[in-house]
Amino acid sequence: MGPAVREWEPPVTDEVIRTEGLTKVYPGDIRAVDGLDLSVGRGEIFGLLGPNGAGKTTTAGMLTTRVVPTSGTACVGGIDVVAHPVAAKQVIGVVPQTNTLDRSLSVYENLYFHGRFFGMSARTAKAQAQRRLEQFRLSDRAAQPVMALSGGMAQRLMVARAIMHRPATVFLDEPTAGLDPQSRLALWEVLGELHREGQTILLTTHYMEEADALCDRLAIIDHGRLLALGTPEELKASTGADTIVTVQTRPDDLDRLTQVLGREVPGAQQALRVDPHVVVQVRGADRIVPQVFAAAERAGIDITDVSVAEPSLETVFINLTGKDLRE
Ligand SMILES: Nc1ncnc2c1ncn2[C@@H]1O[C@H](COP(=O)(O)OP(=O)(O)O)[C@@H](O)[C@H]1O
Ligand SMILES: [Mg+2]
Repeated sequence: MGPAVREWEPPVTDEVIRTEGLTKVYPGDIRAVDGLDLSVGRGEIFGLLGPNGAGKTTTAGMLTTRVVPTSGTACVGGIDVVAHPVAAKQVIGVVPQTNTLDRSLSVYENLYFHGRFFGMSARTAKAQAQRRLEQFRLSDRAAQPVMALSGGMAQRLMVARAIMHRPATVFLDEPTAGLDPQSRLALWEVLGELHREGQTILLTTHYMEEADALCDRLAIIDHGRLLALGTPEELKASTGADTIVTVQTRPDDLDRLTQVLGREVPGAQQALRVDPHVVVQVRGADRIVPQVFAAAERAGIDITDVSVAEPSLETVFINLTGKDLRE
């Protein structure tokens, strides 16, 4: 017999993910994702950044065939995920939010059988599993039951499993939510390593620091809509500010302080009330803290706290939505 004929040959493309007008309306007219156009290139770490309820999980769900779109199209690795869900699953790796490791199998077996399930030969599956365990610093745990793993280790094993079959892209939905800081850093390292190997990665997060640290490009979304798209640097530069001053006062004085600082701080582009703070975006001014105190004092307002920082993705989000990204 000759070689098996593949039923579906995905077209060769450098665009690994593409959505056009991707929309999901849940029963009750809940528009979770609303006309999303995305394009992710080979080798990118691409982020979907948005607050709770923004539509991140629904978007990832549609791209990974778990959620059926209401309208629009989504392609992964050149394969239309709605028309060809079985073929699409072959080119997709998914790291779920909950622990879905097989508890009846050892750490090594979780990788090995995943590889076998995706059609790898015994020899290849064994070699790949060993390589990934080493890479993710899990080799000494290979024979242990997965129950013995810490949360961070289980997470790394799920990443290793997701990429066992060499998917065109791997999806991670809020991968570090609930991880302790050390495990979070360990996962960032793992993702950085996969990135250097050329693995395309789509991750969702509501942590702006994570999006900033990891992503080549990101989409800021809210209410299922794309609000901004670009590299972290582009997005931060789009604020036009070079300094962000965050000021706290008594709740009763917040409105008045917002007006005063927006009007009187030299270089202030705008001041926004973002409870419980006033956020002032400044460009090209020095000695900014004394200026803020002076302006407040002239208006007879007490300041209880001031901090100064560079523009962040938080600033971008505040400008786009008028609200804070934090819960
Ligand atoms: N299965 C569902 N049925 C009805 N509404 C849903 C369902 N899943 C999510 N939603 C709603 O869709 C919106 C987007 O949710 P989700 O995609 O989970 O956002 P995120 O992951 O950004 O927090 C929210 O308003 C949420 O309540
Ligand atoms: Mg979610």
